[in-house]
Amino acid sequence: MLFQELKHDIYRKISKLKWKLSCRKDEIVDFDVYSIYLGHHKVTYCGVEAIRCPFDYLIYQMIISEVKPDLVIEIGTNKGGGALYIADLMNNLGHGAVHTIDIIDAHDPLIDKHPRITTFLNGWQQYDLYEAKNASKVLVIEDSSHHYDNTMAVLQKFAEVVTPGSYLIVEDGIVNELGMTKKYDGGPLRAINEFLRNHPEFIVDKNWSNLFGHNATFNVKGYLYKQQ
Ligand SMILES: C[S@@+](CC[C@H](N)C(=O)[O-])C[C@H]1O[C@@H](n2cnc3c(N)ncnc32)[C@H](O)[C@@H]1O
Repeated sequence: MLFQELKHDIYRKISKLKWKLSCRKDEIVDFDVYSIYLGHHKVTYCGVEAIRCPFDYLIYQMIISEVKPDLVIEIGTNKGGGALYIADLMNNLGHGAVHTIDIIDAHDPLIDKHPRITTFLNGWQQYDLYEAKNASKVLVIEDSSHHYDNTMAVLQKFAEVVTPGSYLIVEDGIVNELGMTKKYDGGPLRAINEFLRNHPEFIVDKNWSNLFGHNATFNVKGYLYKQQ
């Protein structure tokens, strides 16, 4: 089996090289993590800025369809495109609500009109976990400052409301790969690694992060599954 894989890999590389040498300039395929990073700032959903990696959009769709959460708590609303996307997925499933939290009131009017979305404007620190008391399946997304200490504090607070069989999604561990480790003091990855040491109930679900290649996601080690 390994020999077959190796054979295919060599064959693919030779074919690729032949193609690169023979193709026209406008047929060359050339993108990487940084080009996706530049592009993800321009992503919109229903015309609303929704800063998220395209791979993760699809992964979110698959997770929401699989888990069918009653409640998604999103920390970091910004313009609200991400919340809108999740709320519309819930519309398709006919089930669920989104609580989206920020410290600034920058979201699009479409967010206030959506019947499945409730906004909270006083930061995650002021969010009362009692708000999640009636939900039997809760999924949490941490997408706020990406600084190590903030991420760590969010994980410590919100881990308990994530229900077994659901996810604690930590966005943007990719900052290290993008050369911003110092800026974010180790960023989400440092927080995740520390958090996992004391929370064996969570495991990194590699089925999602490796769907399109090894860690082909901006949420490196960020799909944390709470075991049943
Ligand atoms: C990366 S953006 C969120 C992107 C958004 N989830 C989307 O889908 O487009 C980060 C947001 O986190 C917010 N933020 C920063 N500190 C926060 C805090 N303590 N509580 C909640 N949100 C916070 C920022 O104001 C900013 O709007």
